[in-house]
Amino acid sequence: MENLVFEKSGKIGTLTVNRPKALNALNTQTLRELKDFLSNHVQKEELTVLIITGGGEKAFIAGADIKEMLEMTHVDMLRFCDLGQEVTKLLEQAAFVTIAAVNGYALGGGLEVALACDFIYASDNAKLGLPEVTLGLIPGFGGTQRLLRAVGTRWGKELVFSGKSLSAAEGLNIGLVNKVFPLADLQKQVRDLGEAICRNGRFSVLEAKKAINHGEGMNLNDGLEFEKQLCAVCFATEDRKEGMKAFVEKRKPEFRM
Ligand code: CAA
Repeated sequence: MENLVFEKSGKIGTLTVNRPKALNALNTQTLRELKDFLSNHVQKEELTVLIITGGGEKAFIAGADIKEMLEMTHVDMLRFCDLGQEVTKLLEQAAFVTIAAVNGYALGGGLEVALACDFIYASDNAKLGLPEVTLGLIPGFGGTQRLLRAVGTRWGKELVFSGKSLSAAEGLNIGLVNKVFPLADLQKQVRDLGEAICRNGRFSVLEAKKAINHGEGMNLNDGLEFEKQLCAVCFATEDRKEGMKAFVEKRKPEFRM
């Protein structure tokens, strides 16, 4: 992997998009590496949590690579968007929890990657936005769909139509960002959250993700039925017995699944 760095500690992986000279902009090479990592390599790691962040001092990801796009035909652009959308779908549907640690600019394709993660923790210097219309383009890696689902139609439209970026604090106000920390604290805070998630039953966390993700596309009755089925599946596991037994015995559970 030329533009990605992967590190693992316990059940937590950290994937760094690492092209700092281009503020980690997503060119075809980086998107292919992300696709390969998310569809192949990561399966062997048995992660509970994957943290995604940006290399260098200034950016999470400053968008799709504008210099590369400049030379593309519209057919090239269709393929490029296909690739970007495959990456964001792989992230969204991942069988582990994904956290975007937004450590600077998250613009265009960068915000689209963050939006495909389960949550966003940001540094206080972060800037988040979809500036595509300032380039005569619209978002192509899912921004018009996922931003509106995340923050509602009015805020989503304002951000897409104006191309303006939000500060981390503004992102927090509209529910785009979960929490904001000083830059020097961000990675520790994200790891602490990852570790808190890992202390829970892995199987149940991932079933909860399944219930939420699939439920979003269902009507309430179907969603409730689906939730009930997954709850019963969790009930049948050794982890559930251990969790309840530990509560009664006033000790910490030792989950195994
Ligand atoms: N693509 C390619 N290169 C980029 C880039 C991008 N998205 N963003 C930054 N870079 C490069 C710059 O060209 C520059 O390279 P050189 O030193 O070789 O000139 C280097 O990274 C550093 O950038 P700046 O000098 O511009 O840094 P700055 O601190 O002055 O500004 C910035 C930072 C505000 C993020 C500015 O770089 C910027 O506006 N970048 C573009 C952001 C953007 O428009 N993103 C959306 C892209 S379109 C998209 O993503 C489409 C889609 O959905 C499919």
